[in-house]
Amino acid sequence: MEYETPLFFRVMEYASQAEGDVIDMVSGNPDWEPPQALRDGLHEYADREPDAFQYPPSEGLLELREEIAARRGVDREQVVVTNGAGEANYLAMARALERDRGDEIILTDPVYPYYPGKTTMLGGTQSFVAANENGQLDPADVCEAASEETAAIVANSPNNPTGAVYPEETMRKLVAIAEEYDAVLISDEVYDHFDLSGNFSSALAVDSDHRIVTNAFSKSLAITGFRVGYAIFPPELVANAKSRHMLVNVAGSRPSQYAVLQALCGTGPDYYERNRDRLRERVDAFTDALDLTGAEYTTPEGAFYVMARFEGYPGTLENVFELIDEAGVAGMPGNAFGDSRSDWLRFALVTPRVEEAADRLAAYFE
Ligand SMILES: Cc1ncc(COP(=O)(O)O)c(C=O)c1O
Repeated sequence: MEYETPLFFRVMEYASQAEGDVIDMVSGNPDWEPPQALRDGLHEYADREPDAFQYPPSEGLLELREEIAARRGVDREQVVVTNGAGEANYLAMARALERDRGDEIILTDPVYPYYPGKTTMLGGTQSFVAANENGQLDPADVCEAASEETAAIVANSPNNPTGAVYPEETMRKLVAIAEEYDAVLISDEVYDHFDLSGNFSSALAVDSDHRIVTNAFSKSLAITGFRVGYAIFPPELVANAKSRHMLVNVAGSRPSQYAVLQALCGTGPDYYERNRDRLRERVDAFTDALDLTGAEYTTPEGAFYVMARFEGYPGTLENVFELIDEAGVAGMPGNAFGDSRSDWLRFALVTPRVEEAADRLAAYFE
């Protein structure tokens, strides 16, 4: 069986080897500060006794699981601390396929490319439901695609790459479809703190044994390198997921989990608000400057990304390489996210130089 190395790495590698100055808008690595409490927790950890440097409980530090459970209103037994949202999604998809209710996973188009990658790796089949041009998902289309073969539906709101935030009604209907077909809704909520619209609704708001919620601190605390995320499983699905997590990883990283716990307890809502404000400013600066290019673009309701379409310049890998070399701006090819956005390019707003980047694009497309 073959599975692909995600394209992100090829683009990042190409950009890092480019001759001139390149503004990196490829990955979703925040360029802003983590909370002070996280740095303090990490400093403090360095001086602890050797026993603090040994295996943590495989399912995650108890205090961290309790904190997550309290915040999310679930039982701590349902929480597995994972190696980022990446592992949380893997555990959720594997668990859904293990139920032997079918081997099909319903994904959206556009799609976060790791989902089809994981589906293939896990031996599942995939079927895509198109989002509309605003990135919204019509539950009626998902219902039409669902069948007895459906093991899981994977939804991501706020969405990478479209920036769409699904309303509560959509989440409610997606859970209902999972229930109707005895499948599982997997709701990836890794950008929940970057809802710019105020319309975000967690799948946890709908009580059900047919939904798994995945999340991480990678984006919300600006620590993609720490690798701390979590999955919340229905009680009857959690045991196998914990075993799989243990067999694959033994355990997660103890200092990272400790620092995250300190950050959660020692950080007020203003930290998250500031990050949203910065993102709003960047969206405005980037899209205002994009207006000068004549490009069509998306204005995100959430997450970090703007998609842009330049007349006669499809979102291929070749064009992305050309923009790196000729314009000094690195984005992602839209065709990495499925067929529907193959004319588009995606730009991550994780640099203070967003306006300069749009100016460079304007100069290039002039
Ligand atoms: C939708 C989505 N899910 C999951 C991830 C991976 O998150 P983590 O770094 O916590 O594994 C990303 C990262 O960009 C993402 O955009």
